[in-house]
Amino acid sequence: MNSKLKRIGILTGGGDCPGLNAVIRSVAKPAMLYEGASVIGILDGFEGMVEGRMRELTHLDVSGIVNLGGTILGTSNKGDPFHYPEEGTDGIRIVDASHRALKHYADWGLDALVAIGGDGSMNIAYKFSQLGLHVVGVPKTIDNDLEATDVTFGYDSALHVATEAIDRLQTTASAHHRVIVVEVMGRYAGWIALGAGLAGGADVILIPEIPFSWDRVCEAVAQRKWGAKFSIVCVSEGARPEDGKIVVKESDVKRTDPVRLGGIGELVANRIQEKTGIETRVTVLGHVQRGGSPTAYDRILASRFGAMALQTLTRGEFGCMVSLQGRDIVTVPLKDAIARQRLVPRDSQLISTARAVGVSFGD
Ligand code: F6P
Repeated sequence: MNSKLKRIGILTGGGDCPGLNAVIRSVAKPAMLYEGASVIGILDGFEGMVEGRMRELTHLDVSGIVNLGGTILGTSNKGDPFHYPEEGTDGIRIVDASHRALKHYADWGLDALVAIGGDGSMNIAYKFSQLGLHVVGVPKTIDNDLEATDVTFGYDSALHVATEAIDRLQTTASAHHRVIVVEVMGRYAGWIALGAGLAGGADVILIPEIPFSWDRVCEAVAQRKWGAKFSIVCVSEGARPEDGKIVVKESDVKRTDPVRLGGIGELVANRIQEKTGIETRVTVLGHVQRGGSPTAYDRILASRFGAMALQTLTRGEFGCMVSLQGRDIVTVPLKDAIARQRLVPRDSQLISTARAVGVSFGD
């Protein structure tokens, strides 16, 4: 038992993903069982920390949740404490509300904080660690775009959903001799489109890292008219043409990342139909990729991350993020974790493998 660690705060920030509950469980269970510590759930991410929405978790709260999607704590991709949207009579003002979060942290007597989130949450966690909080980060995101870990939990589950969707779209596209464009998530990194496109046998894969030519995409689809007579085009929401920009659905100043993407699938489908004359449909997978139960891989990775986060705290190591490197869970400084996004390298073996089996990246 570590006498220094009495009250541990835990929160989930940013977009949810399968595996969050498995982390919460593997932090909270050993903390309560073996460290004699209380675990305080901070509700709705950093927003809940600013607003002081917290509650002590019980054994019952964290039992039977390893297979549960979403997060029992709630989350939010708004409410960065250092860039906090405050509603007033004259509209929304952005203020620094970090002092309010610090006050609630102190009021609740927290000794340490486990922050589970993506790049936005890790940035906030880093700023709080600079202000002296004992923070350990746990990387999550279906986008798999955090550089300092080989993989984030949530990605494998999203990949399964997207692959299964492509399998289903293959049969209907084939039956009607159509092109089906499937838009998947992936703001700045194309891991989901690349992984699901490769696993699902897509004919064209469009990712943010490789701006595409409209002509190349249409050529790739048109040439299949004489053979298989149908095509699947898997496109990341963040993909863009060489001569264009990413397609933004809306912008909201309250969000940690103000931009919400969506719409490139529709544009690609329209252009293909117009240029090739082949009947084309579009399916946007959206949040289906984030919902539901985590895969076994994600449950195990999330559990290992959570257990390591607690061990890290109990040995008095802070300001770091747990990370998968090779087969091992290690820790890396939060500063390094937020330095770069993990994009698909253009010389990635995944890309060359896809090219080898005839996939076009529209370049
Ligand atoms: O960051 C994960 C992610 O799923 C992105 O791929 C997507 O752009 C974003 O979240 C959507 O977030 P929301 O609709 O919840 O604001």
